[in-house]
Amino acid sequence: MSDIVERIEALKTEASTCRLCGLCENRQNVVFGEGNPETPLVIVGEGPGANEDATGRPFVGRAGQLLDAALLENGITRKHVYICNTVKCRPTSIENGSVRNRPPSPDEMATCLPWLTKQLEIIKPRVILCLGAPSANTIIHTDFRITKERGQFFDTPYAEKAIAAFHPSYVLRLESQTDKSARASLVADINAARLKVIELKKERASQ
Ligand code: URA
Repeated sequence: MSDIVERIEALKTEASTCRLCGLCENRQNVVFGEGNPETPLVIVGEGPGANEDATGRPFVGRAGQLLDAALLENGITRKHVYICNTVKCRPTSIENGSVRNRPPSPDEMATCLPWLTKQLEIIKPRVILCLGAPSANTIIHTDFRITKERGQFFDTPYAEKAIAAFHPSYVLRLESQTDKSARASLVADINAARLKVIELKKERASQ
């Protein structure tokens, strides 16, 4: 096992008993992250939903299937990237007696940030692809305007560059209203992230 894999596994074990915020009360599993920790490209989503909470794996529900398809259109599989979230436990609310997903609160994101920071310190990605505004708020800058600022590269303390794309759940919602353009922009932003990795590798090799 490489040093990076060993360190990420040790961090995952540590996070599995985290009780830093109230989300630990209702979780079934901590969804720490998975994929290739030796990758140049890390994808950061928002937070686990019901399927992720049940399995302990990120992006395994409908949004995850769309993400996998969009990655594959760019020749990328989960073996090529590392996927994680801004919060590692499922945020829920009760609506009309049923348990629903909800966005993580700013407090929950701030409390969980040290886990994400440590993950990224170990992986040291060249590029981070943020899915949705909460992730971009954390990695790129606060008050990120996803419709205006997606698809652009930004400096970030967590990688050489970061870019944000529409969250696959948002794409699914729009597609149900017959708007297909958001899916195309998700695929294009993944491609931009892939090309930026290649460009940065070439730049470093010629220095
Ligand atoms: N949405 C996210 O942001 N992350 C997941 O892991 C699943 C759905």
